[in-house]
Amino acid sequence: MAGAYVSNMAQYNKMYRQSLDEPEKFWGMMSKDFYWKEMWHTLNEVNFDYTKGPVSIKWFLGSKTNLAYNALDRHIEAGKGDNIAFYWEGNDDESRAYTYNEVYEMVCKFANVLKSKGIKKGDTVAIYLPMVVELPVAMLACARIGAVHSVVFGGFSADALASRVADCKARVLVTADGVMRAKKLVNLLDIVDNADKILKADKEANHKLDSIIVVERNSKAGPLKEQHEPWNKLMAGASADCPVEWMDAEDPLFLLYTSGSTGKPKGVLHTTAGYMVWSATTFKYVFDYRPGDVYWCTADCGWITGHSYITYGPMINGATQVLFEGVPTHPTPARCWEIIDKYKVNQFYTAPTAVRSLMSFGEQYPEGHSLKSLRVLGSVGEPINPEAWRWYSKHVGRGQCSISDTWWQTETGGHMITPLPGATPQKPGFATKPFFGVEPAILDPDGKEQDGACAGYLTIKRSWPGQLRGIYGDQERFEKTYFQLFNGANEMISKDKYITGDACRRDKDGYYCITGRIDDVINVSGHRIGTAELESALSQFEHCVEAAVVGFPHPIKGEAIYAFVTLEQGYEMTPEVQKALKQVVRSEIGAFAAPDKIQFAPALPKTRSGKIMRRILRRIAAGVTDVSEFGDISTITDPSIIDELLENAKHAS
Ligand code: WTA
Repeated sequence: MAGAYVSNMAQYNKMYRQSLDEPEKFWGMMSKDFYWKEMWHTLNEVNFDYTKGPVSIKWFLGSKTNLAYNALDRHIEAGKGDNIAFYWEGNDDESRAYTYNEVYEMVCKFANVLKSKGIKKGDTVAIYLPMVVELPVAMLACARIGAVHSVVFGGFSADALASRVADCKARVLVTADGVMRAKKLVNLLDIVDNADKILKADKEANHKLDSIIVVERNSKAGPLKEQHEPWNKLMAGASADCPVEWMDAEDPLFLLYTSGSTGKPKGVLHTTAGYMVWSATTFKYVFDYRPGDVYWCTADCGWITGHSYITYGPMINGATQVLFEGVPTHPTPARCWEIIDKYKVNQFYTAPTAVRSLMSFGEQYPEGHSLKSLRVLGSVGEPINPEAWRWYSKHVGRGQCSISDTWWQTETGGHMITPLPGATPQKPGFATKPFFGVEPAILDPDGKEQDGACAGYLTIKRSWPGQLRGIYGDQERFEKTYFQLFNGANEMISKDKYITGDACRRDKDGYYCITGRIDDVINVSGHRIGTAELESALSQFEHCVEAAVVGFPHPIKGEAIYAFVTLEQGYEMTPEVQKALKQVVRSEIGAFAAPDKIQFAPALPKTRSGKIMRRILRRIAAGVTDVSEFGDISTITDPSIIDELLENAKHAS
């Protein structure tokens, strides 16, 4: 691609080599893109190996900066205040543009509102909002005054919201009354009030909310009550003058809860300088964003993609973007293509599940639109199957666009393995090459690093600026989850690398293809859901004795959820019970986590040491009926259980 920031592989290779061989020089050069109140003096101080002391990650030591200043003030001072920050597109026929000046004023005012609620540097603010402009505004207002935001995706239930609020000890919650998602009204106030009640009743959590600030988005959700403070009223009384709090490099910026293979969701911690540099630098290079471009990411700010590639990366680059409240199929499957033509979008970033869903409606929808403004198409959240990749490239990109299949995680803060438009020759299904500063290592089952073409555990050998700094309040879990890898016999096979939790294949050209999780995490429509969380939710059903959950291939969602449930003696798995079990998951986690299929399990297949043999369950869930295809079943305590499970699988629903 002519004029791209990186225009060929030779240039990529040179920059990549420099990022590893001369990191001070490389990041010194990249640092010029930002405003630093005080410049850093030491690039990083990192220890991954717990035997040498606590695992610790620090970048850009000695610096002082602020992400809201870099995202707003800096552009305004450069005379770009009238540039559009957001073209907001509502669920239905509503839209509005916001300039950088307008967003700046909202951010300053809301920062003052937070201060008036007693929020100061280091305090946590919970945000539970739909995709309205107030969502990135609230995040940036926190960043401006050094408060730590903890955004909870609007699809989570009252229970899930309450447990996240309690864990991060937020005293202020910012929410909305309600919002339409396609044709359905989501009553956020009801959910918030339930979460509030749960918190008040939970003596153990010993935490309550002091204020609930409500954006009045949809009056159909009912009138505000005494405990709700309207956003607009608070904003009307707030000053638009709010000085910036200059933050140290490692001051916390935000917490974002994500699922792991065990236990409750963990609060992933990101800090100031490293995250700023990583989100903004990856945004610029991976989307080849140039001044004047219009960029659109369809993710929700409740997930990491919305944090790094709506609120921070693009804003720090002064980008103009579309902020979308709706869903891609409403009112018709042409919605995305209409929006792309309406704003002449140059970069479009979405998830494979959306591509597969739009693909299922037929190519006439994209083909009925011009789409000629598009230059880069991004993909994130799950592996993109070659068929969807080709459809995306052909019918949306018209064979003229670069596809950026970006592999990364909540924990990595930003893109890690990804093509660079204009430079990286593409291969469907491959996230291709590591970004600058990223040094992957593929380990074999003994923990040995492999060379050349191979497959195995994907790990990262050295720190990068956007790496998570911890799990909130749990150093031990942080060290165990991300820096220690064990084999089947529970022997530690790696202790000095970042463990991604993903498996991966590298081909002879050094291209990486991410093949899926190695732990018990299911990726449904790009949403990460822990089997442990699902199982604990199912066990809340009063007649459930035990439950085991696995993923199975799904043509649109990528993976779907399959639950095996053992009921108390005398209880049958009727359609009502199946429905009730799904309802329990909806209320414990959220509708997006409800199992697709549930079957009765007279017992679960276990090893002698009591471990559930998920491998067998995965085969049954995938529809395998021939026991000879189940692999080694010699360690199962009661092999007859397989036949019984297969019999019951016929009634899964
Ligand atoms: C998966 C989302 C294949 C992977 C940014 C990872 C992917 C998990 C890709 C992180 C990709 C994400 N190809 N798999 N391009 N992108 N994943 O934390 O399993 O919600 O570990 O972050 O999604 O999900 P998370």
